Amino acid sequence: MTAAQRIAHLRAEIERHNHAYYVLDAPTIPDAEYDKLFRELQALEAQHPELLTPDSPTQRVGGKVLDGFASVRHTVPMLSIRTETDTESSGATNFDTRVRNALGSAGDIEYACELKFDGLAVNLRYEKGVLVQAATRGDGETGEDVTQNVRTIHCVPLHLRGCAAEVLEVRGEVYMSRGDFERYNEKQRAQGLATLVNPRNGAAGSIRQLDPKLAARRPLSFFAYGLGEVHGWALPETHSGILDALARFGIPVCAERAVVRGAGALAEFHRRVAAKRDELPFDIDGVVYKVNDLKLQAALGFVSREPRWAVAHKFPAEEQLTIVRDIEVQVGRTGKLTPVAKLEPVFVGGTTVSNATLHNEGEIRRKDVHIGDTVIVRRAGDVIPEVVGVLPERRPADAKPFVMPTTCPVCGSHVVREEGEADARCTGGLFCAAQRKQAILHFAGRRAMDIEGLGDKLVDQLVDENIIHSLSDLYNRKVLNLQSLVALERMAEKSAQNIVDALEKSKSTTLNRFLFALGIRHVGESTAKDLARHFGKLDVIMQAGEDRLLAVHDVGPVVAQSIVAFFGEMHNREVVQQLRALGVHWEEHDGAMNEQLPLSGKTFVLTGTLASLARDEAKSRLEALGAKVAGSVSKKTDYVVAGEEAGSKLEKARELNIPVWDEQQLLERLKECE
Ligand code: IVH
Repeated sequence: MTAAQRIAHLRAEIERHNHAYYVLDAPTIPDAEYDKLFRELQALEAQHPELLTPDSPTQRVGGKVLDGFASVRHTVPMLSIRTETDTESSGATNFDTRVRNALGSAGDIEYACELKFDGLAVNLRYEKGVLVQAATRGDGETGEDVTQNVRTIHCVPLHLRGCAAEVLEVRGEVYMSRGDFERYNEKQRAQGLATLVNPRNGAAGSIRQLDPKLAARRPLSFFAYGLGEVHGWALPETHSGILDALARFGIPVCAERAVVRGAGALAEFHRRVAAKRDELPFDIDGVVYKVNDLKLQAALGFVSREPRWAVAHKFPAEEQLTIVRDIEVQVGRTGKLTPVAKLEPVFVGGTTVSNATLHNEGEIRRKDVHIGDTVIVRRAGDVIPEVVGVLPERRPADAKPFVMPTTCPVCGSHVVREEGEADARCTGGLFCAAQRKQAILHFAGRRAMDIEGLGDKLVDQLVDENIIHSLSDLYNRKVLNLQSLVALERMAEKSAQNIVDALEKSKSTTLNRFLFALGIRHVGESTAKDLARHFGKLDVIMQAGEDRLLAVHDVGPVVAQSIVAFFGEMHNREVVQQLRALGVHWEEHDGAMNEQLPLSGKTFVLTGTLASLARDEAKSRLEALGAKVAGSVSKKTDYVVAGEEAGSKLEKARELNIPVWDEQQLLERLKECE
């Protein structure tokens, strides 16, 4: 084999693996093998520089820094499409009606439905199957030559498979997946470097990067959605047929598409995609409908440079620009201080947003948010709105930096931020009105004590007017009663009575609800259930040490410590005692800890060092299965587990003829039982 042949062979192999990895998401060989092929190709090309061509996969790393981009005149203009932002179905019906009127058609039209990718439009020009040029859309007539940068996008094939058309221009969107965006930002943050604001800016910025080596570091992807100039290739009859063909040529085409008939089906596609928008691995800003039949497309033609046969049906934007009027600090149930941006109200993600979380001090520093800044707010799905980034060029001269208060804005207690913790906390505990309010709201919540009608407005009044100081005051009728409730603003006697009734009703509860309602840090609903099931009685839980708590399914050291610390506080024990004295009750049982578990009644002794398990972990896993773990070997010992360098305990076990397991046997047994 000549060097030229070997080079051709290696390039074809590497491209085949690239396609499997980046387009099909189904790797064909291990990374190390791929690297070997790649290095062999690099070495051969270094020995034979005359054989090095720009379409070699080794050239994806990015070449020389450019002074600027050359202009590219599009032989077929890159048009944009009309946008419908109307409510769900009317966008689809409007489009369908226009199409049918223009065609004079009464029947259902066939449409190709696609996603509207949120990135940057590019034109890829293949000549005889080789990528020769990539250009941005520009003004539609003339774009910029970004070939070098586009070559660094691994999923863009440098050669088409089975297509040697004279000219084939593929149009589509360059984008950055959410996962790649997160990973890239994570890496940048770790090195103290600038992060990207959102995936779209990431994609657009990278493609227009003059240093292709920098572009190569940004993980980009591509989806095709149409064609430009074509010579020497017989077009399929439909748009969906074109995309199918492009996929066969090795070009990435999004699988999330459909061919449907009629307006109802268009609206259905819109609904279906909207419902899974947040789960997609990349950002979209809507869907696109296209008349599928190319003959009908030709018959429909264009109006004012927009095709009559396609429309973008947008979703509500998830990001908008607005101004930060102020930054306030909110105090949560556990004392966590959250800086919140007070915004110039803006319509985003389907609602008007005037507050957005800034998470914590570190986030504000990283994003460099000042009061007065113009920022990008994001509200995606049901997630609380957040500030994703600042437009530094719009910062006014009088913008003010944020300073985290050293005392709690609500109660004046000291604010602490422990080492290694991102969050600052108010040390006021239930002395802090904000924490008290949140604690009461949590206590009253539907999944906790389920006290109907005790919402935030009422809790604000009860705490602000000093009627309620602790959770137990809710059930103390000397404090909270019909009179004291009616005396509150906007409280009619009927509503007051309802509240009293709801409070009475809530007294009869379950142990898991009560535990959850107490708001012990790290004890969520499911941990509360596990604790209640395992122990059955509140007193037992209150007295349990960390060891016994660790035997509970899914309770780790952090949770166990938090429970011990909570019940270690005198005032917490008092509140519990008062609540019970005031009539809060539930059924207790003996607990599941004595239930027949797989290892109930068996006593284990652990000795030596275990290679893969920490001693504590082995212990708590055995205990969770009902076993007892003892410190020394005796006649009562059922099994000894011996790790490396086991000493006298192992000897004793042998003496007493007690079965000895090695670590492997222990792990197998645990796996069987768990
Ligand atoms: S079709 C002549 N299909 O949206 C029709 N465009 O104005 C050309 N876009 O910037 C466009 N996803 O980059 C089409 N599936 C899709 C698309 C899509 C995103 C972008 C396109 C352009 C804008 C359309």
